[in-house]
Amino acid sequence: MWSLVILILLSLFAYILTDELIYKLQSLFINAGLFGIDLCKVSKEKIPEAIGVISGCVFLITILLFIPIGFGYSLMDRGNFPHHEFAELLAALLSICCMLLLGFADDVLNLKWRYKLLLPTIASLPLLVVYYVNFNSTTFIIPIPLRQFFGISVNIGFLYYIYMGMLAVFCTNAINILAGINGLEVGQSVIIALSIILFNIIELRGDQYKAHNFSLHIMIPYLATTLALLKHNWYPSKVFVGDTFCYVSGMTFAVVGILSHFSKTVLLFFLPQIINFLYSVPQLFHIVPCPRHRLPKYSAETDLLRASRTVVLKKDMPLLTKVVLRIFTSLKLVDKVEDKDGVILNNMTLINLVLIKLGPMSEVQLTKTLLVFQIFCTCIAFLIRYPMASYFYDLNIYNNFVS
Ligand code: UD1
Ligand code: MG
Repeated sequence: MWSLVILILLSLFAYILTDELIYKLQSLFINAGLFGIDLCKVSKEKIPEAIGVISGCVFLITILLFIPIGFGYSLMDRGNFPHHEFAELLAALLSICCMLLLGFADDVLNLKWRYKLLLPTIASLPLLVVYYVNFNSTTFIIPIPLRQFFGISVNIGFLYYIYMGMLAVFCTNAINILAGINGLEVGQSVIIALSIILFNIIELRGDQYKAHNFSLHIMIPYLATTLALLKHNWYPSKVFVGDTFCYVSGMTFAVVGILSHFSKTVLLFFLPQIINFLYSVPQLFHIVPCPRHRLPKYSAETDLLRASRTVVLKKDMPLLTKVVLRIFTSLKLVDKVEDKDGVILNNMTLINLVLIKLGPMSEVQLTKTLLVFQIFCTCIAFLIRYPMASYFYDLNIYNNFVS
């Protein structure tokens, strides 16, 4: 309990420090060539990019400062050193630190997609090793209606580690591709972090107390530093967060999900990101052409955003592209116009989907709409996790194995 109070105080300092550093260091980033142009504004002024490296560093420093306090306290209090928990925290820090480095490298060097997939997998290895040594539970509980076919639980062994590695890759990239309008990357991360913290607080009274306490020790400093970043990144953005922030956030959520055994609940909080990823699949796998930027198109006359578009040429159009376009059109998921040479359709992101369904809107209104949807999905996640879980799972068994 005391350790949480100390952590909250440290996090308050972390908020103030991040806020101050972002304010003071902006010009260093511009001088170093780390800046971007806001594509949804008339003004073409330079906006510092990759500022997520500041909030990420303060986040890591806060946890590092907490280590001697928190673990020293537990040594004095209990007389023995919690080696397992220490190893978990170090592995978590190592994985997040690797993503900070990768994200910053991506912001500076613009890495290719294959590295964006490979490096989070490698960065998650320390986590998986600690998971293997400390828990090695690779069992899925089967929902009650399916138990007659599969039994109470299924041990998927090595596949569980592949699942966790893929979770890290998904979380790190999912936030980065639901991005491009002021405040959206940080806003969605704040809502996911708050959802996880709420879930941890509810579960603190359960028998998984330790795991949720561990998660809180990571999420609270993360939330504090991210809120400071949001202050500067909210519309109209004074700073851009860069891929650094998206990767650090994704890895932080994956880390707590894996080490505190609630990875499936974390995935529930990622519902908008999952929808955005599935909708983006045709462009991510180049079945439909994917331009460098898919963010909405700004119209200076109206000051509103419209869905941005991509063109598919009819000449030599592959069969797969035709099939995909037909399916998406029949599901009314794309807004497309055809002429004799090609098909023009909206870029397939959740942001553009909102615009084609609800009509053009201002940037700040669009960000708020998407964040309200994120909150709505959190409510659904809690509904699935609590009232509905009891229909599908015998909760005593469920809580013992997975959360
Ligand atoms: C991802 C998306 C891309 C989207 C971009 C926006 C995929 C496959 N990639 O690419 O479609 O356009 O993020 O971040 O889905 N920017 C703004 N306003 C903002 C935030 C960013 O105009 O509020 C622009 C700025 O020019 C900034 C740039 O986006 O410099 C950053 O883009 P970057 O993070 O490099 O794009 P990716 O992550 O590669
Ligand atoms: Mg990005």
